[in-house]
Amino acid sequence: MSKYLVRGGLPLAGKITVHGAKNSILPVLAASLLNQTGEQIRLKKVPSLYDVRAMISILTGLGAQVERDGEDLLLQTANVDCYHVPEALMREMRSSIFLMGPLLGRLGRARLCYPGGCKIGLRPINLHLEGLRTLGAVIEVDEKEGYIEAWGRPRGGEVDLDYPSVGATENLILAAVTAHGDTVIRNAACEPEIVDLQNFLNILGAKVEGAGSPVIKVKGVSGLHGGSYNVFPDRIVAGTFLLAAAITRGSVTVEGVIPDHLKALLRLLDQAGASVKVAGSAVTVSADRLKAVSRVETKPYPGFPTDLQPPLVACLTLARGTSTMIEHVFKERFHHVSELRKMGAQITVRGRQAVINGVAVLNGAAVTAADLRAGAALVLAALAAKGESNILEIHHIERGYERLPEALRSLGARIFRVEGVREEAVF
Ligand code: EPU
Repeated sequence: MSKYLVRGGLPLAGKITVHGAKNSILPVLAASLLNQTGEQIRLKKVPSLYDVRAMISILTGLGAQVERDGEDLLLQTANVDCYHVPEALMREMRSSIFLMGPLLGRLGRARLCYPGGCKIGLRPINLHLEGLRTLGAVIEVDEKEGYIEAWGRPRGGEVDLDYPSVGATENLILAAVTAHGDTVIRNAACEPEIVDLQNFLNILGAKVEGAGSPVIKVKGVSGLHGGSYNVFPDRIVAGTFLLAAAITRGSVTVEGVIPDHLKALLRLLDQAGASVKVAGSAVTVSADRLKAVSRVETKPYPGFPTDLQPPLVACLTLARGTSTMIEHVFKERFHHVSELRKMGAQITVRGRQAVINGVAVLNGAAVTAADLRAGAALVLAALAAKGESNILEIHHIERGYERLPEALRSLGARIFRVEGVREEAVF
């Protein structure tokens, strides 16, 4: 039972770099299955995140060899011959549904646990399944046992997504890369992680174009080979540090980022009265007390990202005035609200809308992270709160942020990871 102990109230200051994007690394790791040659794939600067380790366990279970070389990962996938992802590993990381595309491309078969059958809530995959069927897969869902069986080597086709799902777009690209014939995906997700996946696949010999736009074209090739790749910096981690500067009324420079990926957040911070400076690949946010923003809506890229909604809500709890947040992407993504209320935040939620009445002070409390970004929101609130906070269930946070306490301490925060129930004086 590890937790974070935070003593809030200090403005963060300094410079920090961010690790590679989790949501790029996961599909890129899945894509490595399409390399049947003995050639190695080197992924540079891969953070040691819980989700990355879970994906590595899945790949090694399928027959891949994965080794760490300092910050890099080396992958050898010549011997992959298993198409069954065990339930226990699927449970570790439900987004692993995008293994279905590469498994079909590589082995013409896939057997995965149905993510919707898992306990933490429904995760629809209808768009993945419909798209893969359009590309020729035969898919049977065993609702009772919670398994999906798919077989058939993909062939080219035209898929029109009803919604620009990130995971479905990735799954379909991955199925199309080694399909017989050409594929067009319309209403595709435009997130930078899709561009990252395209860039990686093309280095390995794929022919994918259009990522970052709603129309993606894939020319089927016979197979991929080895190569070396460095994924984009994690825009959500970068955004979290910038919001940490804003909520603590400090000044933080995040270096080595792609500022374009952060446009929606930077616009909003500017609107809220923070100073935002972009210089090359560095972004600096300095802030005093923020002003409320009347209406923020999460949307697919380039809209405001749902993954920064919880951290932004945390910041707005201390803004001057009333803000409204509308969550369009996920149906139930306000699990941080009840915890923020324990710290004194005034927020009401009705359906997909949260109304945040800014308060002058938050107070430290014992709070529980319900999911990754809800956890990040609690860390930010605790950094700004008066007194000490205990943040529980931090394994959620560690799915996506590498050594977060150390990173925040380098900016002057007082936050420590504590094992077990010990509460000796860490400050
Ligand atoms: N949806 C469907 N049917 C589908 C697929 C999605 O109805 O077949 C719905 C979802 O229920 C959701 C919406 O479409 O309401 C968006 O889902 P999407 O498929 O775009 O998201 P995802 O691929 O499951 C990825 C990220 C999420 C991020 C979203 C949106 C990864 C591994 N995960 O999820 O990241 O929030 O895109 O940008 O890439 C996180 O990092 O904290 C995280 C949750």
